[in-house]
Amino acid sequence: MTLLQVARYNNHMNITANNNEAGVGTISRRQFMRRCGQVAVASGLLVAAANVLVACGEDPKPIWQPIGKLTDFAVGKVTTVKLKLGGSGREIPVFVQLVSQQPQVLGGVCTHAGALVGWDESKQQFVCPQHGSVFNKSGHPLTGPAAEGNTGDLPTLQLKVENGIISVFS
Ligand code: FES
Repeated sequence: MTLLQVARYNNHMNITANNNEAGVGTISRRQFMRRCGQVAVASGLLVAAANVLVACGEDPKPIWQPIGKLTDFAVGKVTTVKLKLGGSGREIPVFVQLVSQQPQVLGGVCTHAGALVGWDESKQQFVCPQHGSVFNKSGHPLTGPAAEGNTGDLPTLQLKVENGIISVFS
């Protein structure tokens, strides 16, 4: 899944959830709070998507991009690689690690509101500088607004390995 697809999918799910509750005359406090959370999540994702598009100047199209040789990455270590989103001028970090000898690439766009996250080697966590969300090594939110709003894990990017070269679709 590409970063753009993640943003679009999350936005679609939010709209679907709202439609499923349409027609209810009154809502409980819990439903109200959940809807507020959904609106906040949708707003954040729209801002994130807009930030990407504005920075690129156009709607970037995902393309396969090589990020390095399989042998460049060590088991248990997270390596940051800069990638141009859709081949555009917008550079984002992606995080490569080998899990059970298989490459895994996480996108470095925060699922709260689209800021770029960084890898903290000493704490073995991803950290978003914008509002302080923290994600574990698998990209799952632990603290901060991304965890509180349950906005989701950092996106796992689609990848392929050909002739020992890892490429991601982004
Ligand atoms: S953008 Fe808000 S915590 Fe990352």
